[in-house]
Parts: sequence; structure tokens; C-alpha cells
Amino acid sequence: MQKIQIGFLGFGNIGNGVYKILQKHRNEIADKEDYQINIKKILVRDINKKRPVETDRSILTDNPDDILNDPEISIVAEFMGGENPALSYLLKALNNGKSVVTANKEVIARHWEKLDQAASASGAGLYYEASVCGGIPVIKAIQESLQANRIERIMGIINGTTNYILTKMSENNENFSDALKKAQELGYAEPDPTADVEGFDAAFKLSILSTLCFHKRVHLERILREGITNITLEDISYGKELGYALKLLAIAKDNEGKVEVRVHPTFIPQNHPLSSVRSSFNAVYLKGDCVGDMMFYGRGAGDLPTGSAIVSDILTACKKEHRYMKFGEKTINAVYNDDWQTKYYIRLTVKDQPGVLGEIAGYFGKHGVSIASVIQKGYGNTTAPLIFVTHEASEKSIQQAIAEIRKNPCVISVDNLIRVEE
Ligand SMILES: NC(=O)c1ccc[n+]([C@@H]2O[C@H](COP(=O)([O-])OP(=O)(O)OC[C@H]3O[C@@H](n4cnc5c(N)ncnc54)[C@H](OP(=O)(O)O)[C@@H]3O)[C@@H](O)[C@H]2O)c1
Repeated sequence: MQKIQIGFLGFGNIGNGVYKILQKHRNEIADKEDYQINIKKILVRDINKKRPVETDRSILTDNPDDILNDPEISIVAEFMGGENPALSYLLKALNNGKSVVTANKEVIARHWEKLDQAASASGAGLYYEASVCGGIPVIKAIQESLQANRIERIMGIINGTTNYILTKMSENNENFSDALKKAQELGYAEPDPTADVEGFDAAFKLSILSTLCFHKRVHLERILREGITNITLEDISYGKELGYALKLLAIAKDNEGKVEVRVHPTFIPQNHPLSSVRSSFNAVYLKGDCVGDMMFYGRGAGDLPTGSAIVSDILTACKKEHRYMKFGEKTINAVYNDDWQTKYYIRLTVKDQPGVLGEIAGYFGKHGVSIASVIQKGYGNTTAPLIFVTHEASEKSIQQAIAEIRKNPCVISVDNLIRVEE
């Protein structure tokens, strides 16, 4: 049996989960895989900190070189998070011929080329299953089980925090800040929730997923990103009236060689498979030209689910059958479509007076946008809500129509614009 020495960079939530799995399943892993995995060193910020998992203090270090320069360590597993110094540590590990397993979506999304190049130059492996959707083995499935397909479309609920918040808003009528507070109390949201609620986390993951699915480098900067902070209970309630559920979706489509990529709140029909994905669960729904529609569902975060993906990557890295993205050769840069077609929900507050509906509809007509349905509710007040759902229209036409609608003196405010996917 081969003994493999590994080093951890980080020993927080995920590091503890990986440690627990490697202890608990030590014998099964040795029997099934024929590797004996030994954690030789663990890098932390504070070696004196009290930790939930008991470990031999002598394996903790605050010096990264104890791992990165140790010739006995052949695999470095990183779960420190953040862009730096994680990036420099991973590059050093790869340059020294050590395979890297990482849960760090930010580093992969932003610096994949550099890491892939360093890995292929030294013959080391680079593994990142845990960087997207925690315990759901979607990356391996795309790389190893769906190669026969041209993947045309991905739609995913790939951020558990926002899905938890939207579920609470939709099912319990809680407003955004109450639902966020509950998510923080349960540990689903960070004290600073920006990365989740503003869609950054989902954008990192979408960049990785779409690059893999389309064999084209999809850059983070080209992803339209809108978070859920503007979503109100009114929008959710009107959506229900129209037969829709609201989700923060990560969407990528490859249409005739042009890629559209966006993360935003999205209305989907209540009978769409993604609408049943509740609470902090994740799901990725994709369409391959051979396999058709397919959905992956499970826990997108948490110590053991994420640890499950990391341990699997460690065992794959042990086999040394590494594959490389070869950006620029095998994986070319994407060409983008920024003027996609979809349906739109638009909520306005207007003066409650005759003729306003016709005037607003006129702006849509002028820009070639046809209206599928309207909800008009006069409350006997001076203002009233007015909700439009359009047929498929181009993003640019909608934005032009909205710019003109804003200037109309009967329009008090354009309260929300939510894209609709079917
Ligand atoms: N949490 C999840 O459910 C989840 C799911 C999927 C992916 N991920 C990814 O996994 C990574 C880790 O997440 P986490 O929740 O485990 O984070 P965490 O609990 O904050 O743990 C971070 C660990 O890294 C160490 N660390 C951070 N900066 C360091 C530095 N400059 N030098 C040395 N050690 C440093 C910390 O040391 P101390 O303990 O001494 O402070 C801590 O042990 C992130 O990339 C995250 O995006 C997390």
C-alpha cells in the first residue's frame, strides 16, 4: 500500500470536515483505494486557537514553507479561502511538483490559467471539485461522464445562502433582512454577506462551470451579476400570481458559438424542476445535445459535504492521471453575446389615472417588445402598481424602453426588473 503525505492549508470549517472524514474512513479508504493518507502538516493563522477537532499540536504550523517546501508532501489541500496569499501558496506548491486540491472558487475563477500552466509545467495535478456546489460531484460529471455531449445550457442554484433567504421570503413571508438575519444565525450566511447576496460567489462558480461545459474560457468580468438585495415580498407575491417561483439563478448558454452568462434573480415556472430546490440546497440543471436535460441536486456547502468532494479529489490526485485545461490551445477564449433574448417582469409605480397603461405599453411597442400579461391594481390612492410580463425580447430593447419609461411624468418609479426563464 502506498503511503501519501499531504499538507493542509487552512483548518477551519472545511479543514475540520476533511480531517474528520480522513480519520473516520481511514480503513475503508485504505481497503478500497490502496492508499494510506497521512496529514503531515496543517497551516493555520493561529496555532494556539482552540479548535473543534482535537489534533496533535505538533502538526500545526504558521509557516507555509513547512508544507510547500517539504519534499515528502506530494499533495496540498487548500481551504483557507480568499485570493491572497492562497494564490501564491498554490503556485508555489504546483511549481514544486505538488498536486493541489482546492475549495477556493475565487482563486480558480480569477487565476485558472496561471495555475493550470504551473501544474502542466511541473506535471502536478490541479483539482477543484469542492469549489462549485460543495458535495455535488458536478465537475467530475462534466469532465468524465458527459464528454460525448455538446452542452448548450446550464441553469443553476449554486449559492445556498441566497436560496435559503428566498425560500424564507417566499414560504414564510419574511422580509429580506429578517431572512438574512436567520441565515446568519444558522451559519448559512457570513457576518458580511456581500459575496453571497450580491451574487459574487455564484459568479465565481458560473465562470468555472461554463468554462468546463463549453470548453471556452468564460471570464468572470463578462458575467452579468445582480444580487437579491432589491427583491421585495411584493415581487415574490406578484410572481406567484403569475405562476412563477423566484430563484437566484446562474445561467450560461452557448448559442451558435456565442456565450451568454448571467447571475441574477430569475422567475421560473412553478413546475420547473429548479423551483422545488428549497432552503440551502443547490442544483445544477444542464442540457447536453445527446443526454438531454439533467439535474444534479444536493448540499452545496458544509464541512462534510464539501469535505466529501475534497477527499475524492485527494484520492484522484494520488492516481497521478492529471488532466490540463491548456488555455489558449484546448480551451479558447469565449466570444460573448451581451444582447440575449428572454422574457421580463417589470414592476412600476405609476400615477393612478386613466391612459397610463396605454402610454407605457406604447414605449414597449416602440422598441419591439410585446406584452404577454399585465397586472394593474388601482387602490383608490394617487399611485398604483403596474406589472408587465413581456414575451421574449432582447436585453437592449428592454433597457431602452425602460430608460424612456423612467422619463414619463406619470411614472413615479421603476421598482424592479426581473428576468424570466422557462
Ligand atoms: N464553508 C463552506 O461550506 C464552503 C463550501 C465550499 C467551499 N468553501 C471554500 O472553502 C474555503 C474555506 O472555507 P471555510 O469555511 O473552511 O473557512 P474558515 O472556516 O474561515 O477557515 C479558514 C482557515 O484558513 C486559515 N487561514 C486563513 N488565512 C490564512 C493565512 N493567511 N495563513 C494561514 N492560515 C490561514 C484559518 O486559520 P485560523 O484557524 O488560525 O484562523 C482557518 O483555519 C473557502 O475558499 C471557501 O470558499 C467553503
